[in-house]
Amino acid sequence: MAIKHYLQFSDFTLDEYEYVIERSRVIKRKFKNYEPHHSLADRTLVMVFEKNSTRTRLSFEAGMHQLGGAAIYLNTRDSQLGRGEPIEDAAQVMSRMCDVIMIRTFGQEIIDRFAAYSRVPVINGLTNEQHPCQVLADVFTYIEQRGSIKDKVVAWIGDANNMLYSWLQAAEVFGFHVNVSTPKGYDIDMKQVSPGNRRYTFFANPADACQDADLVTTDVWTSMGYEDENAARLKAFDGWIVDQAKMARARKDALFMHCLPAHRGEEVSAEVIDGPQSVVWEEAENRLHVQKALLEYLV
Ligand code: CP
Repeated sequence: MAIKHYLQFSDFTLDEYEYVIERSRVIKRKFKNYEPHHSLADRTLVMVFEKNSTRTRLSFEAGMHQLGGAAIYLNTRDSQLGRGEPIEDAAQVMSRMCDVIMIRTFGQEIIDRFAAYSRVPVINGLTNEQHPCQVLADVFTYIEQRGSIKDKVVAWIGDANNMLYSWLQAAEVFGFHVNVSTPKGYDIDMKQVSPGNRRYTFFANPADACQDADLVTTDVWTSMGYEDENAARLKAFDGWIVDQAKMARARKDALFMHCLPAHRGEEVSAEVIDGPQSVVWEEAENRLHVQKALLEYLV
C-alpha cells in the first residue's frame, strides 16, 4: 500500500479533512479534560529542523508525548544532517527507526525527495513554498469559531509566501475564496498556484481586499536577525499593515488570524492583534490539536 504523506495542503481530500477536523475536536476535548488519549503509544516521531521554530517544535513534541509516544528532535548543528549525506540515505535510515517524520526545510523539492525514500509518513513542518499544518490549524480555528468555511472570504494581506500558497490550496479543497493583496515586488509566483485555481482575486489596494471578508490574515514582513534586508521590506510594505481601518472594511463578525511570531506596528497593529476580533492564541493552540489528529491519521 502506498504511504500517505502530508507534504502540501492539497495532499488530503475534503473527506480526509473532515475526518481529521472531527478527531481534532475530540482530541482537544480530551486534552482539556485531562483524559488520556494514548492512540500512539510506543510510536516514535522524528522531527528534523533545518530552520528554527518555536510553535511547530513545541506542538509536535508535546502532541506526540500526549498521544503516548515519543518525539526526537534533530537539527543540522547537532547531527550529521546538512554535512553532505544524501537526503535519500537519511530518509531510508530514519524511516527504519521511527513511525513518522516531520521536516522543516527550505525547498519543497527537498521534502518531496525525502518522502520518496521514506518507509513511513512524512509531514511538512514548513518549506519555503508551503505551510500546510499552520493552515490546517487556521481552517480548524475558523470552523470552531464560526462554523463552515465554505463560500467564506479570506483576505490575505502581505507578501506571497508559503502561508498564502497553502491558503490557496485550502480554498480549492474547502470551497472558499481568498482576496489577495501583495505589495509590488512580493507578488504571487504562479508556479506555486495550480493552473485551474479560480478561488482567489488579486487586489492592488489591501483595504479593498478586506472588504466584506470573513477572515483577515497576514504574516511577518521581516525576520528577526535580518535587519539589513528588513529596512527595504518595511519600505515596500508601507500601507499593508492590518489596522483597525482595514478591519472596519471586513464583516462585523470577521476574525483576525496571524500564524506568529508577529511584529506589532509592522504587519498588524497592536489594537487588532490584541483586540476582540483576534483569535491568534486559539489559532496557535490549535496547532497542537490538529497535528495530533494528523499524526494519528497518518500513523
Ligand atoms: N507559525 C509557526 O510555524 O511558528 P514557528 O516558526 O515558531 O514554528
